[in-house]
Amino acid sequence: MNRRKVIALAGAGVVGAGAAAAGAAALTRDHEPATAGTSGAVDFYGERQAGIVTPAQDRLHFVAFDVVTKDRDRLVEMLREWTAAAARMAAGRDAGLIGAVGGIPEAPPDDTGEALGLPPSGLTLTIGFGPSLFRDADGVDRFGLAAQRPAALADLPRFPGDALDPKISGGDLCVQACANDPQVAVHAIRNLARIGFGTVSVRWSQLGFGRTSSTSTSQATPRNLFGFKDGTANLKAEEESLLREHLWVRPGDGPSWMEGGSYAVTRKIRMLVETWDRTSLAEQEAIVGRAKGSGAPLGGKDEFEEIDFTTKGADGQPAIPEVAHVRLAHPDQNGGVRLLRRGYNFVDGSDGLGRLDAGLFFISYQRDPHKQFVPVQTALARNDVMNEYIRHVSSGLFACPPGVREQGDFWGRTLFG
Ligand code: HEM
Repeated sequence: MNRRKVIALAGAGVVGAGAAAAGAAALTRDHEPATAGTSGAVDFYGERQAGIVTPAQDRLHFVAFDVVTKDRDRLVEMLREWTAAAARMAAGRDAGLIGAVGGIPEAPPDDTGEALGLPPSGLTLTIGFGPSLFRDADGVDRFGLAAQRPAALADLPRFPGDALDPKISGGDLCVQACANDPQVAVHAIRNLARIGFGTVSVRWSQLGFGRTSSTSTSQATPRNLFGFKDGTANLKAEEESLLREHLWVRPGDGPSWMEGGSYAVTRKIRMLVETWDRTSLAEQEAIVGRAKGSGAPLGGKDEFEEIDFTTKGADGQPAIPEVAHVRLAHPDQNGGVRLLRRGYNFVDGSDGLGRLDAGLFFISYQRDPHKQFVPVQTALARNDVMNEYIRHVSSGLFACPPGVREQGDFWGRTLFG
């Protein structure tokens, strides 16, 4: 259906009363056809949720919500409404059936309007459920879900050096919006928050610009705010057998509702860029373990070559120091575990002390965070020389269920039944 000519489904029972009264032809957002490239649409429906192995888009708006209702049916109803809106927005349409300007003048529009005229921009929306949805801080089983809580969703341990702010950590639900246009990502989150009013409230949210990883071999490796290529040794969409082993939840891993899903860990990591910028190039490279220009491992030549940790430098010492970031994070040092990293740079203005409030909003997806993220982060928190230049200030853990298969299916169906 041509979305410029979509006829508002007045009274169809799927829209609010004000919108239903409209009955007029709705104006929907102009967009280009879903072509390849950065402006086209990414399929919302599928076996897996989009936004995990989807080639990382350039912009992020991540939000964590608290559920404020006690009513399970109301929560499920909101998840259904969210799903319908998310599918429409991913296709480049308005969030609601009436649209930003198609309704009666007396009613608030069912889309906020700031994406009118913008293409789908590769928007993906990925939902996750936090540990507190299953049992709150007082141990209360709020929605009859406690028995369904996977062991993999047990709270993360405290790591040495953590400086976490609870106000920007945790959350009952999360939605990761990624797009190649920041306005499209923000529009999507804003409309979900609008639809969820009275059922959920925004707990915290984070904007990210500039992806800090590649999730496909077709992508060039971007750079983080330390100026280093980031995402070289990442899990990539094309590595299907590695994804089966390290990314997607399998039958037998835990409760069946998570089969085909994945777990997201978020860590907002402040980077003390002013201190870093006064560090010599050689020191920076020794901290990371890779050359700043090419991204090649120290002692090597090519960005994508296998790292040989036995290579010695001219001084007879390991070319990649024992406490370098890539050595400590490498699968060889961590029982073979891998992560799919999908983080973003952020700059949230300045901190009032003459420093940029900048860093990396780290996101990793994995089959079991306690077997993958936790050992890697434990090794890094203990020994990584990079710690002098970073602070972990927020943390989140979310179970991201399998994909929404088709219209009528909804986010959380496998959990809520
Ligand atoms: C601000 C914080 C961080 C910065 C600046 C950073 C930067 C980097 C850079 C430049 C690389 C090398 C390029 C690459 O292979 O992607 C790298 C690799 C890696 N990082 Fe980080 N990282 C940070 C935090 C983390 C955290 C919190 C984890 C997980 C707990 C992590 C896990 C990894 C892994 C698994 C690799 C690949 C290691 C390998 O197999 O060679 N990083 N990181």
